Amino acid sequence: MKNINPTTTAAWQSLKDHYRSNKNFNLKEAFAKDPNRAQSLTIQDGDFYVDLSKNLITKETQEKLVSLANECKLEEAINSYFNGKKINATEDRAVLHTALRTRDTTTLVGGNVVAAIESKEKMFAFVDAVNSGEKKAANGQKFDTIVNIGIGGSDLGPVMIYEAMQAYKNEMTLHFVSNVEGDHVEEVIKKINPETTLFVIVSKSFGTQETLTNSTTIRNWFTKKVNAAAVSKHFVAVSSNVQKAVDFGIDQENIFPMFDWVGGRFSLWSTVGMSVALGIGTKNFQGLLDGAYEMDMHFKNSSFEKNIPVQLALLTIWYNNFHNAQSEAVIPYTQYLHRLPAYLQQAIMESNGKSVDRDGNRVNYETGNVVWGEPGTNSQHAFFQLIHQGTKLIPAHFIAFAKAKYNQPDHHNKLMANFFAQTEALMNGKSIEEAKDDLLKAGKSESEIEKLVPFKVFEGNKPTTTLLIDELTPQSLGKLIAMYEHKIFTEGIIWNIYSYDQWGVELGKVLADAILNDIQNSISDAHDASTTQLLQKFYSLNK
Ligand code: F6P
Repeated sequence: MKNINPTTTAAWQSLKDHYRSNKNFNLKEAFAKDPNRAQSLTIQDGDFYVDLSKNLITKETQEKLVSLANECKLEEAINSYFNGKKINATEDRAVLHTALRTRDTTTLVGGNVVAAIESKEKMFAFVDAVNSGEKKAANGQKFDTIVNIGIGGSDLGPVMIYEAMQAYKNEMTLHFVSNVEGDHVEEVIKKINPETTLFVIVSKSFGTQETLTNSTTIRNWFTKKVNAAAVSKHFVAVSSNVQKAVDFGIDQENIFPMFDWVGGRFSLWSTVGMSVALGIGTKNFQGLLDGAYEMDMHFKNSSFEKNIPVQLALLTIWYNNFHNAQSEAVIPYTQYLHRLPAYLQQAIMESNGKSVDRDGNRVNYETGNVVWGEPGTNSQHAFFQLIHQGTKLIPAHFIAFAKAKYNQPDHHNKLMANFFAQTEALMNGKSIEEAKDDLLKAGKSESEIEKLVPFKVFEGNKPTTTLLIDELTPQSLGKLIAMYEHKIFTEGIIWNIYSYDQWGVELGKVLADAILNDIQNSISDAHDASTTQLLQKFYSLNK
């Protein structure tokens, strides 16, 4: 992989000039000028219809952005990524979550990848045995509840998928324990029957404080409620550190390995997906993998002009680095995807929240876009005011599924009407004349109209990308997630940063351990004045 500072490329300079000379670009005018605009800026790939035309770009902008990708050697980087080159250089690892879903096993690289496929097969056999009732709880009953214990990538992906796949779930009930607060554990254990619950401890490192604390508390509770001998039947682990899982007391045969070349936040395709597979069955889990593979092939084989993840990444760079946008929103128009923004926050911000380039120098440009969101239409009644009339530029992804899961046409039509209306309104805005006209029609007097009109004007020209997908299925969900994974990769390549390490989070873990020691010994004076004061307040409230 070549390390290229993107700002030194000819395309970057050309994009800067292009941005300056198009400062007054207006979406409404662009559509009026070019009858072909909607069609020429839309990409269709199977069940994905991605309309980029309501963005602040022209075909010329798109061409310049593609030149930037070319100058930053994106194609070469994509080959290194799929071929298992150690592109996660600071951890000396390959990045091969794509190998977990490949159907083309001839391209698999290295013995570990084969071992990972075997580990997935072992997981599928286990999941089928639990779901069929062949593998039973210690008392001989069928398991009916799963508790996933993990955090970060060992939690967010599985929760997001499980919530999204409610229409595909079987009779198994799933709970997720992630946070280290005892209250989270207590709220879960009060809902479950230990006799029929399977606990899945998910930790790539098997060294994460939250997961080990929660697992220990739950195992102690379980031992009291059932007995110690039943632990081997009720606790399984997913980890790349098999020895640590054994030391924790998990039976070797109940450990489902994962490998260091799968990053935590990209691991839901591996054995980390165990709880999800238990909740939706292996057939649906395979559907997720197949959908992701479809997107992998699209990303690998499409020209950059018609490549969905590449185009989405280039738009992020356009807004982040040229328009100085501070964040972007992801608005799924389905409650099923209510955890998608949280999942993407880890995937995107843990990956690209970096300020040092691949040569170890501080970057002299912006990286790491901030992402946030909530399902529509809830979000319309929450933060849309700021997007419509606030001072910030917030490019947004609008995601909807053409077919609903249940036959409720009245609901679905209203949902979709909102979906289409919002992107149209964000683009068109409302002029002074239109606002005046509305007020006149509402029976307002001349003086009232003069007073109110400034507040009723919408600037418009707010950029959005519309993703219209046929239906929410395991396949389309897998494809959607893989789309964001490759978007993250593309941005990281162009920003010349390492997207697959997370040293910033590692630091937080060490610092918390140091303060924990002080709390356990009621020490407060080893810190700055503010922290000392806070610790003293905390001790006094807990006396
Ligand atoms: O948040 C930091 C992190 O290292 C994530 O990358 C990872 O998903 C999470 O902690 C959990 O780590 P583990 O699976 O090793 O417990």
